[in-house]
Amino acid sequence: MERQDVRNIAIIAHVDHGKTTLVDAMLKQSGMFRDPSQLQERALDANPLERERGITILAKNTAITYRGVLINIVDTPGHADFGGEVERILSMVDGALLVVDANEGPMPQTRYVLQKALKAGLRPVVVLNKMDREGARPEEVLEAVLELFIDLEASDDQLDFPVIYASAKAGIASNTAPLPPEGNLEPLFEAILAHIPYPVGDETAPLQVLITTLDHDDYVGRLAIGRVRQGRLTLGQTVALAHADGTVERVRPSKLYGRIGLKRVELESVTVGDIVTLAGLEDANIGDTVTDPDNPQPLPPISVDEPTLTILVGVNTSPFAGLEGQFITSRQLRDRLFREQQRNVALRVEETEDADVFRVSGRGELHIGILLEEMRREGYEMEVSKPEVILKETPDGLMEPMERLYLDVPDEYVGAVMELLGPRRATMVAMGQAGPGQTRLEFVISARGLLGFRSAFINQTRGYGIMNHLFDGYQPYSGPIEEMPRGALIAIETGTATAYALDNAQERGVLFIGPGTPVYAGMVVGEHSRPSDLEINVCKKKHVTNMRSSTAEEGIRLTPPRVLTLDQALEYVKSDELVEITPKSIRLRKATLD
Ligand code: GTP
Repeated sequence: MERQDVRNIAIIAHVDHGKTTLVDAMLKQSGMFRDPSQLQERALDANPLERERGITILAKNTAITYRGVLINIVDTPGHADFGGEVERILSMVDGALLVVDANEGPMPQTRYVLQKALKAGLRPVVVLNKMDREGARPEEVLEAVLELFIDLEASDDQLDFPVIYASAKAGIASNTAPLPPEGNLEPLFEAILAHIPYPVGDETAPLQVLITTLDHDDYVGRLAIGRVRQGRLTLGQTVALAHADGTVERVRPSKLYGRIGLKRVELESVTVGDIVTLAGLEDANIGDTVTDPDNPQPLPPISVDEPTLTILVGVNTSPFAGLEGQFITSRQLRDRLFREQQRNVALRVEETEDADVFRVSGRGELHIGILLEEMRREGYEMEVSKPEVILKETPDGLMEPMERLYLDVPDEYVGAVMELLGPRRATMVAMGQAGPGQTRLEFVISARGLLGFRSAFINQTRGYGIMNHLFDGYQPYSGPIEEMPRGALIAIETGTATAYALDNAQERGVLFIGPGTPVYAGMVVGEHSRPSDLEINVCKKKHVTNMRSSTAEEGIRLTPPRVLTLDQALEYVKSDELVEITPKSIRLRKATLD
């Protein structure tokens, strides 16, 4: 069956390159918005928090019609923190609209998602947006896009992409630059129809719908969303729900929905190529296949990145509970968290021995942070623990999650950023130009090393740095034999001097310059460090170098550090010269020592 009346596309863009504006304009021009008051609701960023943060958190679907063709547009979250989401979304579509700001050019976020789209074999349409702006430099940006495609090993078919010049704001698209003063988005619609393959599949084969996204509706309950690969599904029909673990149950969807514009519309039946929302499958999960009960043919399950970070979230038990927000019972907290787990796929919620406390695990600080912020806004008062990285026990020993970290940094901040990353044990794997005055850095770093990095990075680059990270597999845990909490003061006796330091990976530290030289200072870096892994700043004579204890010069005796409280340490060293340091002043310190 050839569905020439359908196109399924994903939309890919870096934050603020105009994705939402473009989809709004497409909706408007396809005649979906007959009532102008509906325009106030922006198409993609439906969640107020997303609107405020300017990022798209959960992928949402919309659909438009053009010349009798239904174009399903699915949004892709650009944030790598919500790993796995992107691949799943892309598995529903045949093509991608790559929206690039004609002035800024491709950015890291464009790169990640595009890489996945190309890998998934999708056909791209490139939209150079904001052509109405003065700084637009379409030739150079197109050149950069082409380089990016080559760099990402696009196939010949994919390299043969159409280029559409556009102003999403003005609702004008054109096959050539500059833009005509008046026009519409027809050239874009035409490019989608001409270049993005229509779905093809066997309508008479056993039904296969791979569940790719979950949602929740207060009236109809759990919603399972996926694309019909083959077969046909009619309302009232019993289907098999094949779970990823191999079990199969017979169920009957209570409703089938499609989309027109932003609205869900009820459907009687769906077939090859349709993106369908199924209600009434309370046990459906990501990766399950809805299939033929008489001849179940499950599709290979899709993987979701495992959570790497965990926190404890508990009911506020302080005497001030209820003063600022609203007093929350453990039951309410429980319901809210478990409800979240239903649609927030990379998130895991578990009970603990304490009925008031829940363990929430996710893909990173931002992933969990957004949920907590959302809940606070809803009036939930909670107590939250510090995040901890999830370690994995395997036959090869204890493993820890690693992340690939991509940073775009204005050139003048590169040094400062490197300095932030050194103590976090990041390994640089690539460095290059990211545009005029911008450097792109790529690191491999443990998830532990990444804790707290985002805020330090944003501070250090005055908000101009862009950061993304992707799960990069597991490596043997290099962590503590003896665990020391981050921020603990440690003392290292070196034979000739004693030095103390507080974790200064991002907080302030205390450095004790003892009598005699050389002086060695160790820091507890990240959540845990073991003594032999301490980064040591060696200040010897007038020479300052940075080395690890394991490579420290001969003759330096490192006794196991003792963990002291700040007060104890201050007491210990009060008679001597004490220097308060911050990462900045360490540099100053080095400078003066030199
Ligand atoms: P997120 O959804 O937050 O990732 O961003 P987005 O890619 O959806 O960007 P959005 O559509 O919110 O646009 C970001 C800003 O760029 C807004 O202020 C838009 O008004 C503006 N903008 C979008 N398209 C155009 C355009 O074609 N020309 C001009 N001049 N401004 C545009």
